[in-house]
Order: sequence, then C-alpha cells, then structure tokens
Amino acid sequence: MSGEAVLTGDLARRVIDPHAYAAWGGLLDTFDHIRDTMPVAKVEPDAPGLFDPFWLVTRYDDVMRISKDNATFLNNPRPVVFSFNQAIEFSRAATGSNMLVDSLVVFDAPIHPKYRKLTQEWFMPRNLAQLEDELRALAARTVDRMIEQGPELDFVKQVSGPYPLRVVMQILGVPPEDEPRMQMLTQQLFGGQDKDLSGSGMDRMTPEQVVQLVAGAVRNFEDYFAGIAEDRRRNPTDDVASVIANALVDGQPLPPRDMAGYYIIVATAGHDTTSASTAGAMQALAHDPEQWARVRADRSLLPGIVEEAIRWTTPVQHFMRTAAEDVELGGQQVKAGDWLMMNYVAANHDPAQFPDPRRFDAARSPNRHLAFGAGAHQCLGLHLARLEMKILFEALLDRVAAVEPAGDAQRASSTFVGGLKTLPLRVRAA
Ligand code: HEM
Repeated sequence: MSGEAVLTGDLARRVIDPHAYAAWGGLLDTFDHIRDTMPVAKVEPDAPGLFDPFWLVTRYDDVMRISKDNATFLNNPRPVVFSFNQAIEFSRAATGSNMLVDSLVVFDAPIHPKYRKLTQEWFMPRNLAQLEDELRALAARTVDRMIEQGPELDFVKQVSGPYPLRVVMQILGVPPEDEPRMQMLTQQLFGGQDKDLSGSGMDRMTPEQVVQLVAGAVRNFEDYFAGIAEDRRRNPTDDVASVIANALVDGQPLPPRDMAGYYIIVATAGHDTTSASTAGAMQALAHDPEQWARVRADRSLLPGIVEEAIRWTTPVQHFMRTAAEDVELGGQQVKAGDWLMMNYVAANHDPAQFPDPRRFDAARSPNRHLAFGAGAHQCLGLHLARLEMKILFEALLDRVAAVEPAGDAQRASSTFVGGLKTLPLRVRAA
C-alpha cells in the first residue's frame, strides 16, 4: 500500500462544488474533518477526464510553506484557480495559454518580480496616505446615504459593495457611470458560478458555459481598458492606471495582453474581496451588540476588527500551485507536475493556529492569517484593503449607534472569491 490519502465521492465533490461554499457552517465542518483525517489529500474526479487530480492542503503550516516557497510551488503553467479540463482546453484554444488572463497571479520569476515592481510602491502605505482624505469623504457619503435609506437595508448592496468598487475604479480612472459594467464583469470572472451574481440566471452551469461567460467578460474588460491605457499614455496622472499604461519592462512597454491582464487583476481583485470582509465583520457585530458598543467606545479595537474580519471571512478561498519537483508534504509524496490547492478557508480555520477559529474575536492575537496569501504573490492591495475598511468602519461607528440583523444573509456560490452577497440589517443612527 502506498499510503496515499485519496479523497473521492461526496467529500471530493464538496471541495469543488460552488454551492457547498454558500453553506458556510457545513463547509467548515467538511474542512475540519478533512484536516483531521488527511491534511494533504489527493482529490480525484468521479469521472475520468473531468478535472486533473490535485492535492488539497488544509493545514495552516502547509499552506504557509507552499506560499513562501515560490521556487518549488509555481503559479504557472496550470491555472491558478481550480478549473475543469474543458475550461482549460477552451482557454488554450482561445488564447494559446491555459489561463484566459495573463496577470501577476499567473507569472513566476523572473517575470513576476519585474511586473510586480511596477506598481508595488504605488500600493505602499506612504503613497496610499494621499488617498485618505478622499476615502474619508467617500465613506462619509456612503454611510450618510445608508442612514437616509434606512433603518432597514441590504448592507452589501448599499455599503460594502459600492464603497470599495468606487475606490478601485477611481485608482483605475473608471468614471462612476461605468461601475455597473465593471461590477458585472468582475462577478462573471470570479463568481461565474452564482446565478444572481453572474447575471446568467442559471443555477448549475456546465464548465463550458462558465468558461464562455468568463471569456466574454475578459474580452469586454480588454476592450474597455485599451481605451483607458490610450488616454493615460497621452495624459498621464498620478493614478495606478497611468503607472500601468506607461510602464516599461526591460525597456519595452507591456505587450497588449499583459497590459490588459494588469488592469483586469487590479480592477477585479480589490472590491468583491473587500466587500465580503466588510460585510462579514458587520454581520458578526450585528449579532454581538456588546462588541459594537465596545468598539464604538474604544477605537483602538478597530484594527483588530479589520484583521479578524479578513481572517474570519477569507474571501479568496483558494489558489492553486504546481510542484516544480518531487517534494514531501504532510507525509504525502507530491510529484513534479502535481497540482495543489491551497485552501485558505481551511487554513484560516485551523485550530492549531487559531484557537476557537469560528469565533469572531476582535482581540485575537496573534492573528497571522493567510487571507492575503504569503510569499512573492502576497496580496498587492493588502494595505489598501485594510485602510479602506478602517476608514469605512470609523464612519460607521461615528454614525451608527446600534445595528441588528433584519433577515437571513446569503452567501455567494463560488469556490474562488466568496462571501456574503446580501446582508439585511436594521440600523439606529447615532
Ligand atoms: C493577490 C486576497 C484586496 C490586488 C491576492 C492573493 C490573495 C488576495 C489571497 C493571492 C496571494 C498569494 O498567491 O499568495 C485579498 C483579500 C482582499 C484583497 C482577502 C481584501 C480583503 C485587494 C485589493 C487589491 C488587490 C484592494 C488592489 C486594488 C491584488 C493583486 C494580487 C492579489 C494585484 C496579485 C499579486 C501577485 O500575484 O503578485 N489577494 N486581496 N487585492 N491581490 Fe488581493
């Protein structure tokens, strides 16, 4: 016997079923069971050829190790997020690459650091400080509007969704009237599996239907950002859109596909993720009025709320890597070329790292979660995400005396970027 831990049948299906991710408690139970019994497990398809088997990694320490060892665990050439084989074949036929979009998350060294360096400084706290006043004004407007429309509201639709969307669109030079288009395209790209978010109206799409939807979204994004880039080459400003439009790598401008990929990753990575963490924190606080009152009285608790929100929600639920060489992981023999899923939801609920992991604990310390990943690909926008959330919560704490649930919240059906898609709340203005 080889001793290989293999996951098949119902458990395997739950790991890749978008609907399982909408039922959060059950999903966490599944991951607890898998982490306890086979922390590094080979997930095999029910039907041959459906998808390539992959190693599911659920322990915090193992996910951290993979994230930080960028020489052994590569983002290329296999898709960075879980994909069915039909989707990979479609992408190869359409673009010549396994991935529909070439962007930072797809590249490895030596290309990745060159591309990352182009915008790294822009996303550092020192540069972001110049956005603070604008963010404060936007947060205040968003919360004022919420209170006018209250006392009952859908927090995702009215607050946590539109606020980070405007921030990202602003740094990319997208005018407010184009936001609905950007929002729809992002959700097609990330949440293509959720009928409400993708606009498809289809509950269970085939992998081919999903990939058609994603490919259409990518083309639409590419056309749109070609116009923005052209404008920023002629009239550069200090926004990130101008940095990308005028960037040189090895003395050459970015090829059109890479430039489009750069815009797409920034346009899509930053808003539904931040929205999901913000909404998750609000949900936790709505169920715990004492914690809301405590943090209103003591704002030093706010950074803890933000960090715990990001861990507790873990909106980016997984990324994939491919082993460059044979390696032993969690007692399993991973072979060169094997595909691995770093499951951030499972890792961020590993009780060996986070005592009582399902509890929302603003005072959790240490809280070295993996929601932003780690290593060379660690989230480029993590300082922006934290800053946006902190500023929004300051505005909410200033203006909202009490908050409580006003109905059942719903989560998106998505294996990749997930989280609340509705959060009915009742608020009492301060
Ligand atoms: C990468 C999570 C917000 C831009 C990532 C990764 C994760 C992540 C898990 C991959 C890390 C890895 O492979 O090790 C999140 C979460 C966010 C958030 C949970 C909000 C709570 C943002 C924002 C932006 C952004 C606001 C920018 C506007 C990016 C980019 C990458 C990335 C460009 C690719 C980095 C690379 O491959 O070098 N993010 N993100 N993210 N994120 Fe975020």
